[in-house]
Amino acid sequence: MRKKIILSGIGIIFTIGVAATRIGSFSTRQDITETGIDKKPYEYHYNDSQGREKIVKQEKTPSPTAVKQYIEADTDPESYTVLVNREHLLPEDYVPADLVVPNIRFSYRGIYEKSYMRKRAAAALEQLFAAALKKNYRLCGVSAYRSYKRQDQIYRNNIKNKGELRTNQVSAMPGSSEHQTGLAIDVSCDSVDCTLEESFGRTPEGKWLKKNCHKYGFIIRYPHWRERVTGYTYEPWHIRYVGKNLAEYIYQKKLTLEEYYQQTTVENKVKSEPISDVDDIQATNEPEMTVAPTPTPAPTASASARPDAPEKKPTDEPKSTRGPKAEKSPSTKEPEDTKQPKASQVPDAEKENDGSPSAQEETKRPLETKQPVETKQPAETKQPVETKQPENEKEMPASSSGETGPEKTSEEEE
Ligand code: DAL
Ligand code: ZN
Repeated sequence: MRKKIILSGIGIIFTIGVAATRIGSFSTRQDITETGIDKKPYEYHYNDSQGREKIVKQEKTPSPTAVKQYIEADTDPESYTVLVNREHLLPEDYVPADLVVPNIRFSYRGIYEKSYMRKRAAAALEQLFAAALKKNYRLCGVSAYRSYKRQDQIYRNNIKNKGELRTNQVSAMPGSSEHQTGLAIDVSCDSVDCTLEESFGRTPEGKWLKKNCHKYGFIIRYPHWRERVTGYTYEPWHIRYVGKNLAEYIYQKKLTLEEYYQQTTVENKVKSEPISDVDDIQATNEPEMTVAPTPTPAPTASASARPDAPEKKPTDEPKSTRGPKAEKSPSTKEPEDTKQPKASQVPDAEKENDGSPSAQEETKRPLETKQPVETKQPAETKQPVETKQPENEKEMPASSSGETGPEKTSEEEE
């Protein structure tokens, strides 16, 4: 009896030892090659019909063609296909170098940090909005670029107001928000007062956006039922520019950006778009961006009287879409066409609809230079100023004030 107990004890200890070794090898993944193939000799243990243990051993040596290499996550902040999430953070000091203001309808007046996007994303967004308008869907831009600092403010504010759990479902910690790339924007529409709430996804505009944004290089970044993959609840309003090729692939395969990087093999990797300006202009097919800028409405007296107002060459970068610059004088009124959308950039579809009250409103914006945006800009940097946000909120039309309501899922608050 005593002997039996000792033998059982030894058996148990042995079993635990074997199990621990296996768990150890799993957790350290020592037996897994870089390509994910098990290189450990394969052992199959089974009992035969008489209950005797049998072991079948064979070497697992997959042929090179059977080895699948999965693509690595793109972590270059400058890349249009960059993956930014809780695992892949942006440097605190990262500010995109080519921020411009897209010529679209925003949910507020004036130009703020959140009005900016990277140049190519801005051009693609203009096309997206114009295409939507052709179908009579009037989208509005709500929040695009956010600096690390601004995201920090939003995140902290949400922790205070909503608690940690809810905040982490809807709001990215600073450094982990795609808004810092200048490639993401939150959009909405009038029927939900240009606010950011799930019901936007059920509006005709929201449905159109979901079906069509890939054609312009955008993806719905936080889709429904993918919370466990993306780490965030459904955001029908948050679109992210990744380029047309990748957007098309992700749309057709119903992936998230995380899944693209985890599941797509090297051979299936989507060719990302080139980054040069020449390609940009060709790819976005925006002839208006190459002609001399003509502000709408006509330049103000001070602007047109400026002796140094440059006659722009066709190849000049339109100033109106440039990020804030430090050289502007604090006392200067909104100079000529700077920072404001221009008629030359208004897509035809929008021009046709200019009779609507909101379209007229939009054309008035260039004169409403209420924000001394540039004066706060540190010298030689293009980073938009974060401290304008509260003023902007004051300026928000009453219709969009619901953004701050407790029942809303406003990202501005999250
Ligand atoms: N709401 C998204 C996740 C952000 O804060 O960037
Ligand atoms: Zn967003």
